Amino acid sequence: ASSACQAYRASILHFTADPAFDDKAHAWHEDGLLIIDGGRVHAAGDHSQLRDAVPEGVQVQDFRGKLIVPGFIDTHIHYPQTDMIASPAPGLLPWLETYTFPTERKFADGEHAREVASFFLDELLRCGTTTAMVYCTVHPSSVNAFFGESDKRNLRMVAGKIMMDRNCPEFLSDTAEGGARDSEELINKWHKHGRQLYALTPRFAPTSTEAQLQLAGELARAYPDTFLQTHVAENTDEVAWVKSLFPNSRSYLDVYDHYGMMRPRAMYAHCIWLDDHDRARMRETQSAASICPTSNLFLGSGLFDFARADAAQVPLSLATDVGGGTSFSMLQTMNEVYKVGRMGGTYLPALRMFYMATLGGARSMQLEGTIGNFAPGVEADFVVLDPKATPLLARRTARTESLEELLFAFALLGDDRAIAATYSAGRQVHVRDARQDVPELV
Ligand code: GUN
Ligand code: FE
Repeated sequence: ASSACQAYRASILHFTADPAFDDKAHAWHEDGLLIIDGGRVHAAGDHSQLRDAVPEGVQVQDFRGKLIVPGFIDTHIHYPQTDMIASPAPGLLPWLETYTFPTERKFADGEHAREVASFFLDELLRCGTTTAMVYCTVHPSSVNAFFGESDKRNLRMVAGKIMMDRNCPEFLSDTAEGGARDSEELINKWHKHGRQLYALTPRFAPTSTEAQLQLAGELARAYPDTFLQTHVAENTDEVAWVKSLFPNSRSYLDVYDHYGMMRPRAMYAHCIWLDDHDRARMRETQSAASICPTSNLFLGSGLFDFARADAAQVPLSLATDVGGGTSFSMLQTMNEVYKVGRMGGTYLPALRMFYMATLGGARSMQLEGTIGNFAPGVEADFVVLDPKATPLLARRTARTESLEELLFAFALLGDDRAIAATYSAGRQVHVRDARQDVPELV
């Protein structure tokens, strides 16, 4: 084994299937060992069975009492909205006009974009998120700044330039042809550059002309292994607006379908006001839904319908949608999505929520085998969860009697403080408190 070998002893949880549909979906090693080689998972299992696989001379980092899970995957977030998180507005459309567009205007300045991207990535890592699908702004400089900072940290990030050529301020507008040309240049520059991946990013149907949607669909076909991300059926006013702009479409989602934008690696944020025909198309095309509970509650958009999505077997993932969302923490996002489920009559076990935030995200992005669990060869992106992070979490987790209860406590009571450390490709990229978290050597 090489000098790039590392080993971590802790409780280990990860998934190999979806616990909503398969009762042998998770692997749990209460006294576990995670062995990394060359930035990838070599093995994960019981300490008693794997200890002899640790090469001589490799010191085992001792995280006993803590829990290692795959790095969280946030499938929908806007990095330029970092500085306007928690801006009050009565609903989506006034919020966009009042706060979002003026904030995004500043990203014409590449140095401003770089500074925000740097803070944003550090904040994601503090919260245990190692992969995100990220909206930049309409400015190519905002994309170069983001990928530059992500590449510098060797993070597995997906991002793209917003395409938007109508119903927005002049200072944020591209054109159908210009937006497509810029997007193609950015694909050639950044897609698969190191760990970076590109996402075609038409903002949402109301801010694109038919010509722009047409070109976005053509790029989606020309570059089938890029991602595509947009918003759909978030808010009833928005749905009515789309109906008036595209009177010939059967539904909001059908606008995207018409232009060839439904395909594997397409990520649709919100998906609240869909109908069953839409849901069937999601499943048929392997387009995924990105569920954004903190945003949907904050903006009063609506409640995601798990029962209908599950009946149609729509690929599901979980997301913050910062700055419409109110937290960078995927644990806090679980806290809120749990309650969204309850309000709709669905019970979401903690195991399912952790799945959606890890392997579920990877699968919905067609990235299983690259990120999302601890199968051999998968990139070693992981977080160390500390059950003693706060007095209340320590007291509550000490009294849990099952894995489900322990995970539920993390999901409902946890936030950035519960993340003791974050690793990306085997490298420590965040440690909560260097004094408390110096690992003891075994
Ligand atoms: N729909 C179009 N743009 C946006 C955005 O920036 N945030 C949210 N939540 N919804 C949108
Ligand atoms: Fe969004």
